[in-house]
Amino acid sequence: MALISTHDKTFELQEGETLLEGLERTGHEVEYQCRSGYCGSCRVKILDGRVSYDDFPLAFVAPGEILPCCCRVNEDIKVDCRGRVSEPDLFDVGLFDEQE
Ligand code: FES
Repeated sequence: MALISTHDKTFELQEGETLLEGLERTGHEVEYQCRSGYCGSCRVKILDGRVSYDDFPLAFVAPGEILPCCCRVNEDIKVDCRGRVSEPDLFDVGLFDEQE
């Protein structure tokens, strides 16, 4: 299976998994809506390698961009994607702890 590299990690796509699913599984920040090549929300830049599409997607894709929801990954690639940044939860910072 193809190796996917991002700014934060390298992982292997699992059998039958889309690139979008692989990025989500490994904790990456990826936008999405339709998950089928129509909306373009999932667009990311590809930094190295190539992907293909079974059916040409309807969403606009600029040169150097790919749609992780519907592309087919046949070789190792690098994409411009980073891990999800977790925001601190207001309820975890002790705002409501009792004062002594
Ligand atoms: S999520 Fe809509 S094109 Fe990928």
